[in-house]
Amino acid sequence: MPESASTLSGDVDALYFYLSGVTVFFTLLIGGAIIFFVIRYRRRNVSEIPRPIEGSTKLETFWSVIPLLIAMSFFFWGASVFYRQYRPPANAIEVYVVGKQWMWKFQHPTGQREINELHVPVGRKVKLIMTTEDVIHDVFVPAFRIKADVVPGKYTTQWFEATKPGRYHFFCAEYCGMNHSGMGGWVVVMEPTEFENWLSGNANQMSPAAAGQQMFESLGCASCHGANGEGGRGPSLLGLFNSNVTLNGGQTAKADEAYLRESILNPQAKIVNGFGPIMPSFQGQVNEEQLLQVVAYIKSLSTVRTETQTAKPPPATPRATTK
Ligand code: CUA
Repeated sequence: MPESASTLSGDVDALYFYLSGVTVFFTLLIGGAIIFFVIRYRRRNVSEIPRPIEGSTKLETFWSVIPLLIAMSFFFWGASVFYRQYRPPANAIEVYVVGKQWMWKFQHPTGQREINELHVPVGRKVKLIMTTEDVIHDVFVPAFRIKADVVPGKYTTQWFEATKPGRYHFFCAEYCGMNHSGMGGWVVVMEPTEFENWLSGNANQMSPAAAGQQMFESLGCASCHGANGEGGRGPSLLGLFNSNVTLNGGQTAKADEAYLRESILNPQAKIVNGFGPIMPSFQGQVNEEQLLQVVAYIKSLSTVRTETQTAKPPPATPRATTK
């Protein structure tokens, strides 16, 4: 067993232990029974003919129902662990992750960037919002018992809460070409105060939301969506994130990260009710990191917007935007 260092790893281990225990128990039981029967009921002389055996409904029901119950216990226990693992909590620190042949890029909500290393505080929930610039990769942190693919063209997420400080190896767990085996690094879990020091020691970088605001301006988004996202020829972006949008045709869509991404790269896919198909695609003009930054900026417009207007200092971090 690898080291156990997240709130989830105990649950995963317990389930795994149970699975292994049941497997070993039945292997021994069945193997033992076979050997016993082979010896005990072996044919003792050539003319020996066994008594014919009739079926027994009782016995057959018994050995069908018991395995069913055991299999269902795997299912429900596994489903409950899976459910916890794949429902990121709302109050997590959101770290953006971009995989690329053959490295991992991380960006904190406060702007700090890292490559192949991720610093996080102990005892805080951390949500990874992940994508890739090229092929499928996979973030696997054995000590946290978490593992999820990163897939071109979409965002996947996973979360963890580290329970003890230390350095934990993480790996790319999807074969992605020549240097796949070297595509990994370390999650560095620190005491909260130590983490704050680390953050402030690397504070010269712009937050993703602030960088996204610059992208928003330089790409000319403001000419339709308003200088501060208040809308115009294009729909307003204020309070958009996580809201339900009514589309032309009457369907609704939830404005999550995937929706924002699609609306930037393929604006004609979902057109907001009352607007025309006038927005050009930005496919090829922004890379994955820039796209995440624009998304982070739009997410930041969901918060009560007062101080985010005052240009230069970075707008409120996305951390504050979760509902
Ligand atoms: Cu990236 Cu394997």
